[in-house]
Amino acid sequence: MERSLEINDNVRIRPLSKEDIPSILEIDGKITAASRSSLDREKINYYLRNPNLCWGAEASGCLIGFMLGDIRGWEFGLSEAGWIEILGVDPSRQRKGVGRALLTAMIDEFKNRGVKTVRVVARWYDPILSFFRAEGFEHGELLSVQKDL
Ligand SMILES: CC(C)(COP(=O)(O)OP(=O)(O)OC[C@H]1O[C@@H](n2cnc3c(N)ncnc32)[C@H](O)[C@@H]1OP(=O)(O)O)[C@@H](O)C(=O)NCCC(=O)NCCS
Repeated sequence: MERSLEINDNVRIRPLSKEDIPSILEIDGKITAASRSSLDREKINYYLRNPNLCWGAEASGCLIGFMLGDIRGWEFGLSEAGWIEILGVDPSRQRKGVGRALLTAMIDEFKNRGVKTVRVVARWYDPILSFFRAEGFEHGELLSVQKDL
């Protein structure tokens, strides 16, 4: 299903395909330049198995943002949910509504598939959480504990 979303300058939201993998890795590389990315071709391919749960934002024929999602059944004792796994907007295009447009497409698709809850896991200090809070996400039921050995 093709959807178009007009943001400032003709940004189009569309499903991602395998041809987008190099651009996804390029955006991820720009975002995580100072840290180590856990994203690779194999991982992206895994998420791409779900048509319409992987959305891209395109401007002038170039990918400028992506969001990879999944729907998973019972885990951690929790019911089935939509998961937003990995997302990124090109640093030069951030804070212009691209992330919000990707999220809208993803949530529409989750709703179409009968999903009642959307979950995101991130480090508690990750700036990405400010984005999700701004979009109405609240603290979920999960809390991780750990011990260094
Ligand atoms: C988080 C991210 C996906 C959001 O996409 P975006 O296109 O920049 O976000 P939007 O413009 O749609 O923002 C929607 C709202 O979210 C909030 N928001 C987005 N990014 C934010 C940030 N970095 N800090 C605080 N609030 C933020 C704002 O309220 C914003 O609305 P506003 O600009 O009207 O105030 C994108 O900025 C990104 O990829 N950031 C990089 C994340 C990162 O550095 N990760 C490193 C470890 S992997």
